[in-house]
Amino acid sequence: MLDATIVRDGIDARLGEFIARREAMKAANRYFYLQPTVGRTNHRVEMKDGRDMVQLASYSYLGLIGHPRIEQAAHEAIDAYGTGAGGVRLLTGTTDLHERLEERIAAFAKREDACVYSSGYVTNVAIITGLTGPGDLVLMDKLDHASIVDGCLLSGAKWHTYRHNDMSHLEKLLAKNAGEYSTILVVADSVFSMDGDVMDLPTTKALCERYGARLMVDEAHSVGSLGATGHGIEEHFDMVGSIDLKMGTLSKSIPSVGGYLAGSRDLIDFQRHMSRPFIFSAALPPAQTAAAIAAFDVIEDEPWRVQQLHENCRTYTAGLKAQGWDTMDSTTCVVPVLVGDEAKTMDLTRMLFDRGIFVCPIVHPAVPRGMDRLRTCLMATHTAEDITQALAAFAEAGAALGLI
Ligand SMILES: Cc1ncc(COP(=O)(O)O)c(C=O)c1O
Repeated sequence: MLDATIVRDGIDARLGEFIARREAMKAANRYFYLQPTVGRTNHRVEMKDGRDMVQLASYSYLGLIGHPRIEQAAHEAIDAYGTGAGGVRLLTGTTDLHERLEERIAAFAKREDACVYSSGYVTNVAIITGLTGPGDLVLMDKLDHASIVDGCLLSGAKWHTYRHNDMSHLEKLLAKNAGEYSTILVVADSVFSMDGDVMDLPTTKALCERYGARLMVDEAHSVGSLGATGHGIEEHFDMVGSIDLKMGTLSKSIPSVGGYLAGSRDLIDFQRHMSRPFIFSAALPPAQTAAAIAAFDVIEDEPWRVQQLHENCRTYTAGLKAQGWDTMDSTTCVVPVLVGDEAKTMDLTRMLFDRGIFVCPIVHPAVPRGMDRLRTCLMATHTAEDITQALAAFAEAGAALGLI
């Protein structure tokens, strides 16, 4: 066991700092990470200690984990293909299931083609390292996901952030840099995963056209949740076809694992042959591939899920606001509850946990100091009783802690 007080080198120093913070959180009963649940997660979840909780932190926005049709597809794939792909996509790992999934995604995204990677994180790294390098510039929203930053770091391209959703700042950077680089790639999350607000697609697109930049959008939190039928940001703004590089994950509304890029046929074929995570990392396993295909079908065949999700978001967010909580600029199923202080955020989490509500605290360094919050997430399958229970717990805990 490492003694936090003996610092021998940089690694020991980092471990020591981590251990001190972890132990202080545990001593104060404020440690909420790595909490094991059992069974399928839906609008309610069973903790390992047997407690039944309202699940208010899952990315499974449509409540599709455990959907019989999706599970059947996964079982059938195991029966027919076994449990592993046995190699990388470019060489021995491609099956007809992968081809079918890519066709299904292309149809859902309304693009010519799509290619699938082993995670959403890997997909962002694959896109940015595959398509940009030294001599190129990436401009990204300050709140873009970490995998976009990591893609830039690996690619060798120059990169800058623009202030969150600040289109005049983006324009300033474009005007300053246009003509100086071989490619300028603008990258934004469609729904920002910590704040729950939506990117300004119309202005971003207009600026990209004006300055000759390419547009990449990360749809991790908008596929299945945004737009009247859950087809994402282009449906939301009625701008189908406006994004050059459409990225999404298979791990949130789609109850599987993996990520994808959808785009023109040549672009996708280029990525299949040139992006390192496609060439050097194993293909998705058959069960997860088949589950993802079935999930896209279910989203289109069961439109009530998206409608109910939107209804639940309206009811819940209005309920929180009526109690006096600050939900920032969220208009989506990701609803932050701003507290602004790390200790109080942890205390609020504890009180909600004790009242049967599973929530996640988000504190520095994940968000700037003073912006500590809970990030809550709605699901299509939350019942009126779940939402009432959650709001009652927020009211009680918020009043007890003097937060509302
Ligand atoms: C915006 C965004 N992009 C990408 C990812 C990575 O996706 P995955 O978890 O499928 O690797 C996440 C994960 O939370 C995300 O929020």
